Amino acid sequence: MNQNFTHTPVMLKEVLDFFSPIAQKQGWFIDATLGGAGHAKAILENHSGLSLLGIDQDQIAIEAATELLQFFSSRVVIKKARFDEISKIARSVGAENNVLGILMDLGLSSPQIDFAHRGFSYSLEGPLDMRMDTTSPRTASLVINQSSQEELINLFKSNGEPQFAKRITSAIIKNRPIKTTTELAQIVDSAVPRANRRKGHPAKRVFQAIRIAVNQEIEVLRSGLEQAIDLLSPQGRLVVISYHSGEDQLVKQVFQDAGSGGCRCPYYLPCVCGAIPKAKVLTTGSRKATSNEISFNSRSSSARLRSLEALDFNKSSHLGSM
Ligand SMILES: C[S@@+](CC[C@H](N)C(=O)[O-])C[C@H]1O[C@@H](n2cnc3c(N)ncnc32)[C@H](O)[C@@H]1O
Repeated sequence: MNQNFTHTPVMLKEVLDFFSPIAQKQGWFIDATLGGAGHAKAILENHSGLSLLGIDQDQIAIEAATELLQFFSSRVVIKKARFDEISKIARSVGAENNVLGILMDLGLSSPQIDFAHRGFSYSLEGPLDMRMDTTSPRTASLVINQSSQEELINLFKSNGEPQFAKRITSAIIKNRPIKTTTELAQIVDSAVPRANRRKGHPAKRVFQAIRIAVNQEIEVLRSGLEQAIDLLSPQGRLVVISYHSGEDQLVKQVFQDAGSGGCRCPYYLPCVCGAIPKAKVLTTGSRKATSNEISFNSRSSSARLRSLEALDFNKSSHLGSM
């Protein structure tokens, strides 16, 4: 077992509950964000008829998961890839016609944050990296040191720091080239007036915004979600856990569109647009971790879980928007 890679799976009980209807079936389960494989291992233990396709873009996660899942190796295929390649990968292993469940537990694993050399943490001295896939050419250093003023302002505005986007950008540009995480954190800290601070270190949201840009998280998520919904077999289930509001809003929107087929007809009139729903949304609003879980795993405090089930066209008719 890789002693350095420890990640506690978030909302594990809720995830297992959502997948319990597929427990007795034979087919494929795709963990599109394998990480330390905590969720994947529990799924394999609880669902003996399922084979697992595990995907992650981080080589360190792939190695840790491969080691943890050794015992189940006859039922497991692991691929290093981004989850917006999920359809192609499912086809390459012959899973595409029998996908019963897909999990997307977004964001970072604990080791990615805690290993200083990955550059994700504003409180640990490290290089400005922040790549989940360390073979990608786009680093945080490139984003911080090469982007135009307008690009940086837009980046911070659209990813959680609208109020001080201009001030933070000016401070960054004045101090370029910036080399380390702690240097950047100090520059952000000095740019945000003390009186206007929200909860936590001001660099927290700025680092998150840069990470989103480095890994193109929003674009990749939309495509990954849409492919995942199309891959599901009838009554197959998708569970998505997100960790910031930008992600959760996108998940909500893609789920609503899958539930209504993109129908925009007024809810008080019969649908006349001919939209065909693909799925039934199982969660009204999002589910959160219990206070008990948050007390022993603080990273679960921002988790928001949503789930849907693919429609079985033999059994259902147009359900309208939900
Ligand atoms: C929160 S962790 C998953 C933890 C996992 N559920 C467990 O129980 O250990 C998220 C993982 O998803 C991976 N990841 C994030 N976005 C990805 C993407 N677009 N494509 C592939 N992997 C991604 C990260 O590298 C990270 O290992």
